[in-house]
Amino acid sequence: MGSGSAVPDQRITNEQLASRVDTSDEWISTRTGIRERRILSELESFSQLCKKAGSLAIEMAGWDPESIDLLILATSTPDDLFGTATKIQAGVGANKAVAFDLTAACSGFLFALVTASQYLRSGSMKRALVIGADQLSSWVNWDDRKSCVLFGDGAGAVAIEASDVQDDLLGFKLRSDGQRGDCLTLPQISDFQALLQETSYQKGGFLPIQMNGQEVYKFAVREVPLILGNLMQELEINSESIDWLLLHQANKRIIDAVADRFKIPYSKVLTNLSNYGNTSAATIPLMLDEAVRDERIQKGHLIATSGFGAGLSWGAAFIKWHGPI
Ligand code: ACO
Repeated sequence: MGSGSAVPDQRITNEQLASRVDTSDEWISTRTGIRERRILSELESFSQLCKKAGSLAIEMAGWDPESIDLLILATSTPDDLFGTATKIQAGVGANKAVAFDLTAACSGFLFALVTASQYLRSGSMKRALVIGADQLSSWVNWDDRKSCVLFGDGAGAVAIEASDVQDDLLGFKLRSDGQRGDCLTLPQISDFQALLQETSYQKGGFLPIQMNGQEVYKFAVREVPLILGNLMQELEINSESIDWLLLHQANKRIIDAVADRFKIPYSKVLTNLSNYGNTSAATIPLMLDEAVRDERIQKGHLIATSGFGAGLSWGAAFIKWHGPI
């Protein structure tokens, strides 16, 4: 019914990054498609981004915030380990909604969208706000050129509503594989300290993102076409009927490889990672909102979407954009 998004004001170009780590605009843009990213500064906050994206989605849907039953915030970077969703619930005025965080890294938005849709399909809830947002800039090692050039901060949101008339989530598939999870982690620090005599406790804290880029790349170009293809077969959808391919924005080469696999012309492929990099759980709703607001995505358009990332986790869904009534 509605979408919204928000990115920080602070912009960091590839050239600027090259003054900190041994890299270049040429290397980053040819290998990834990224030219700049937005990073939260001390003048803005993660919660503010989430609230702005959520409020814009509610506004587009034309909803009274008090009519929302459920708010799910997909994030791996809450500003409070007990959860950020309730702060956003209060911020957008969704006072009657139950709110919780959901973590599935870059697949988080898709997992949260599907989770919310199950509450709506069961009839127990009517309206949900699903937000995907991350501040990975806090967890990147800014001296590791192999990973720091990839990520940015952002937030995106959708407002979804149960309907007796039609179900615009045509189908989905979600997958997890913890056995391959080691290639992308943001692990807890192993820092045990003395508590009392002969007892210890683990002091909280996390290491920066640890990534084997090539393994993640291979995983994405193998699994995304597989899961999308299986879902297309199941739903009896052929690639010509897809209006938009909207993949997690991690690397332009991954997106192009999937489009090529299904012979989807690049004119039907949505990408904005040159401006924002990989904003993790935010990429899909951030791109969706941009294309809705500039009227590329129209009512009834069929969107093939797929998210993938740490866990490992991945998924795909076919969605028809409805938009406000
Ligand atoms: N600038 C310049 N040179 C670099 C940089 C850089 N920023 N980074 C790496 N290099 C160098 C390497 O050191 C290496 O040099 P060497 O051959 O002398 O050792 C060379 O470039 C090639 O490195 P590769 O790692 O082989 O480069 P590749 O073509 O695989 O591209 C990349 C790396 C862009 C990371 C790619 O593997 C990728 O996109 N992987 C997917 C990562 C991803 O999407 N992660 C997020 C998942 S989503 C989530 O859940 C958070």
